[in-house]
Amino acid sequence: MLDLPLPFPDAQGHAATRLRVAQATDLDRLVELETLAFTSDRISRRSFRALLQSQSAELIVAEDPSAGDGAPLQGYAALLFRAGTALARLYSIAVAPDAVGRGIGRRLLKAAESDAFDRDRIALRLEVREDNAAAIGLYRSEGYRPIGRYLDYYADHMPALRFEKTLRGTRPVESGVPYYEQTTDFTCGSCCLMMALARDVPGFVLDPVMEIRLWREATTIFMMSGPGGCEPYGLAVAAHEAGLAAEIHVSTPGDLFLEGVRSAEKQKVMGLAQEDFRRRAEAYGIPVAIRPFTLDELRAALAEGKTAIVLISGYHMFGKKVPHWVLAHADDGRHIVIHDPWVADERGESIADAASLPIPYATFDRIARFGKVGLRSAVFLAKRTDS
Ligand SMILES: CC(C)(COP(=O)(O)OP(=O)(O)OC[C@H]1O[C@@H](n2cnc3c(N)ncnc32)[C@H](O)[C@@H]1OP(=O)(O)O)[C@@H](O)C(=O)NCCC(=O)NCCS
Repeated sequence: MLDLPLPFPDAQGHAATRLRVAQATDLDRLVELETLAFTSDRISRRSFRALLQSQSAELIVAEDPSAGDGAPLQGYAALLFRAGTALARLYSIAVAPDAVGRGIGRRLLKAAESDAFDRDRIALRLEVREDNAAAIGLYRSEGYRPIGRYLDYYADHMPALRFEKTLRGTRPVESGVPYYEQTTDFTCGSCCLMMALARDVPGFVLDPVMEIRLWREATTIFMMSGPGGCEPYGLAVAAHEAGLAAEIHVSTPGDLFLEGVRSAEKQKVMGLAQEDFRRRAEAYGIPVAIRPFTLDELRAALAEGKTAIVLISGYHMFGKKVPHWVLAHADDGRHIVIHDPWVADERGESIADAASLPIPYATFDRIARFGKVGLRSAVFLAKRTDS
């Protein structure tokens, strides 16, 4: 797993440090280190044993490679991987008091991130005592963002701060598609289209005026509440008119997104708007595949340099049961790389958390559907050769 360099002894004459996965024989030394590093809420011997044996946990240890077999450990990091989620949790991290302040904590943290990324996790979360300045300093300096606070979390009633970091691996993919953050709740679809247009149509300018114009061109007018979002035929028609070649993939024929809309009048208007889009898509000769697109089809499109506006479950992305569009624009061999136009400011996210997000194939496949019926839809976009 961790193939980190072995520098040192450093200028101060400190011992070298090597990181490796913990083994059963490290149990005593882990317990010893835990006693030295923490005064309360320690991980018990029994828990360490369980962590060492668990398939859904990983322990990384730091040691001096020149010290003998029984020498004390310099530090450890414990990770938990919950089945069925795309998250990993840093359960604990500690450095021996005589080894702190030499960068070992940072190396353990980076190794934990790289392990979590290799296990197809998209984010690492952790909790830390509110009064633990050293650990909080480390997390902040490594780009973790605060996502909440648990009151009365530790044995002495101290609250815990919760932090999260989006994982991206070490080889970011560059597809040349610029990122644009949506400026309203309902314009995710038009923002995805804008990003695709900005790469593939010379002179195209991304701005809020265009965001609203494209939304007006592709919206179903109403949705469950508030203004309507975009639908695939509308997005494809707007893309075609703006100069791209579009291809519609939708798992069911007919009107979409009507479930959950109570008013018969709204349903009627939505139906008419969609009928109009379908007729115009047909008139433009836009290909339509009425079946769920597969991951392989999406990957093949990306390999040809296309982009794809993909419908995903807002619930999986940010916890709200609304349809949401993201732009898939690259494939790194294990992940579909997306621009998510939605930046969750209330969760402390920045553009860095939403642009070029690598989503593991299996996770992407799971979240690329919406609602009880599992509606699956995408609009594949390419440069037009006929214009
Ligand atoms: C938190 C801990 C793991 C840090 O390990 P470390 O090896 O000393 O950390 P590093 O030397 O890699 O330092 C990394 C960064 O952490 C921060 N940091 C470390 N010690 C700090 C301190 N005393 N005060 C403020 N920030 C500190 C700094 O940002 C530092 O970067 P810098 O040296 O470039 O300024 C270590 O202090 C520890 O084991 N503490 C006891 C156990 C614990 O609290 N674990 C965390 C549970 S959530």
